[in-house]
Amino acid sequence: NQCLHSSDELAGKKVIITAGATMEAIDPVRFITNHSSGKMGCALARQAQRMGADVTLIHASMSVQPPQFIKTIHTPNAAAMAEAIKAQFDEADIVIKAAAVSDYRCAQPAQQKIKKASETLTLQLVKNEDILAWCGAHKTHQLLIGFAMETENVLANARKKRALKNCDLLVANSISESGAGFQGDTNRITILSETEEKTYDLMSKDDCAAVILKTAAAHLKEK
Ligand code: CTP
Ligand code: CA
Repeated sequence: NQCLHSSDELAGKKVIITAGATMEAIDPVRFITNHSSGKMGCALARQAQRMGADVTLIHASMSVQPPQFIKTIHTPNAAAMAEAIKAQFDEADIVIKAAAVSDYRCAQPAQQKIKKASETLTLQLVKNEDILAWCGAHKTHQLLIGFAMETENVLANARKKRALKNCDLLVANSISESGAGFQGDTNRITILSETEEKTYDLMSKDDCAAVILKTAAAHLKEK
């Protein structure tokens, strides 16, 4: 167990955390989503609060209840999540993007329930805005932390994502490894900065949150 005690390492800091799986409407009864549980984002929110931060959790669909006594904003889809983050971005000291954001949405969600009238059905999807990349392009003083979920070439892809999206830190995790990923309570993470890469053993998501925020606090001091 890493450091689930209270501290003042993030006292006075405003921390925005995103969590969960966005849902993109297909029609009034159906949607596109993913397996994200929101557990990692909730663990980060609780830990940041223990470290004295003023935390806002911006979350999409989660299989767990949001933590009590933390400010939350529910954003069902990627566009709503983007809007909520942009509105809070200037005041934030740390922005952590643990949400699994849908890369695409339906070009035109149907107004009425789609009937099973034909043998095949094609949905036209259009790309969503990359919120993390927007944050990377617009950051001034903010410490920006992204996540990368990969099934192969984890480190190579993570390095590219960190640089491309201008993140100070990027947390990479592989869902192909046992015990790591979306629904479980553990993760095997690597934290990448411009100059360092550190891989941790399989840990609980609470412990992952603790090392991520400890690393963040150290970087904030250097800024
Ligand atoms: N992200 C985002 N907005 C999107 C898509 C992703 O902010 N529209 C963020 C996620 O919250 C995460 C990071 O980007 O912090 C990486 O997400 P990931 O899905 O691993 O990478 P992508 O850049 O979307 O690339 P791909 O899915 O093709 O691997
Ligand atoms: Ca993606």
